[in-house]
Amino acid sequence: MKSLTKMNMVYFIIIIFIIAVSSNGEHHPPLKGMQYFSITCKTQEQLSLLKSSTNNPNVLTLKLSHILGESADILVTADELSQFKNILSLHKIDYNIITDDVEHLVHQEFLQNNIARMQSSRTKLNKPSAEPFDYYPRYQEMEEYITFLAKNYSKIVSFHSIGTTFQNRTLYVIKVSSGGNNKPQILIDAGIHAREWIAPSTALYAIHQLVTNQNNTYLYKNVDWLIIPSLNPDGYEYTHSNYRFWRKTRSINEGSTCIGTDANRNFDLKWMTVGASSNPCSETYGGPKPFSEVETLALKNYVMANKKTIKAYLTLHSYGQRSIAEKAAAALAAPFGTRYTIGSSTNVLYAAAGGSDDWLMGVAGANLSYTVELPGGRFDPPPSRIESVGIETFEAFKIFQAYIEKKFVN
Ligand SMILES: *[C@@H]1O[C@H](CO)[C@@H](O)[C@H](O)[C@H]1NC(C)=O
Ligand SMILES: *[C@@H]1O[C@H](CO)[C@@H](O)[C@H](O)[C@H]1NC(C)=O
Ligand SMILES: *[C@@H]1O[C@H](CO)[C@@H](O)[C@H](O)[C@H]1NC(C)=O
Ligand SMILES: *[C@@H]1O[C@H](CO)[C@@H](O)[C@H](O)[C@H]1NC(C)=O
Ligand SMILES: [Zn+2]
Repeated sequence: MKSLTKMNMVYFIIIIFIIAVSSNGEHHPPLKGMQYFSITCKTQEQLSLLKSSTNNPNVLTLKLSHILGESADILVTADELSQFKNILSLHKIDYNIITDDVEHLVHQEFLQNNIARMQSSRTKLNKPSAEPFDYYPRYQEMEEYITFLAKNYSKIVSFHSIGTTFQNRTLYVIKVSSGGNNKPQILIDAGIHAREWIAPSTALYAIHQLVTNQNNTYLYKNVDWLIIPSLNPDGYEYTHSNYRFWRKTRSINEGSTCIGTDANRNFDLKWMTVGASSNPCSETYGGPKPFSEVETLALKNYVMANKKTIKAYLTLHSYGQRSIAEKAAAALAAPFGTRYTIGSSTNVLYAAAGGSDDWLMGVAGANLSYTVELPGGRFDPPPSRIESVGIETFEAFKIFQAYIEKKFVN
């Protein structure tokens, strides 16, 4: 060290730092050889065994089953396959292999999305457009879209930042309103789970419908719409650029090489009591404390500041979460015949503590709060189905709007 000047020392430290950061050992279950299982349990023993086997970092749970007879969707890496299958057959657990080449599925999806982007009239026009997305956009494209709408439909659309993400992206809320103060408001967010691509697209589609379809002006006459199309853009971008199955935020965890928190386990209501993990490497890590994530904190602050007017909260997830209200489900089923699980959002059997839905109702006092499972099947639907999912879901939003208007507008 004697020969190092002070300046060299500084460089030395910087280089060590860069090496430390770039090789922080972030491990993702490798896609090569990964298989996709659909698993159905017939007994409680099987169910708890399945649950415990998903603590393995090489076993990724896309959809957990909570009740007997309901299927779970699970990805298993090549290394883990034989052991995983052994356990299943040992305990006589039924399973189907949906695909034995998850890597191929992911590559196909990226290809398909890029083709859809290239063929999109949005891209061809090469100028801003209020048309809905017919491919899964990057976050920057969402930002451009929002900015354009606010400019071109400035009488009814505005947007502002509710905070910044860990990686310094801006979190936006889009407000669709006919003006005036103290109207009841519906808050919708999407994308808290990064890999659920259909959620932000569905939120953007709702904005498109509200803003451009003259038939929908009645929907924001007496009720304001507040829509956050992506609550976890860091994670969302990561699913496009690095790892398709990323779910959490991208924050650094002190004392661990594992990245991120499950933002939907990070809210301060019965935090970490059930359905969440205290292991930073887990997919359902609840964070070091409630609202440790700047993204969840931004939502909290925004909601608390608008507590008096927010009457309904809808948080969009792709499949595998909890259920939507019966009425909305019936409406959702109407145009395209999709079926929904129906039930209450706070079912103790299913409970995962620290979710945004329970917090919005239990703490922030929203009168309605639902996790909305979007249709689309096992994987995110192909780009060609983004619009039809958007249409179905918008029908459900209308039902919530009607309810809120009836209850809170005299
Ligand atoms: C801008 O808004 C007007 C309606 O106010 C609409 O007719 C026009 O098509 C919009 N422009 C674009 C590019 O979408
Ligand atoms: C975010 O911005 C702040 C302030 O500009 C900066 O200190 C911080 O290092 C940035 N974080 C990242 C992850 O870029
Ligand atoms: C508006 O409503 C009319 C009458 O129901 C319908 O014919 C028309 O297609 C609707 N327009 C749009 C853009 O949905
Ligand atoms: C809505 O929720 C608030 C806060 O919990 C409550 O005071 C109010 O009575 C509720 N209104 C209706 C119509 O249910
Ligand atoms: Zn989710």
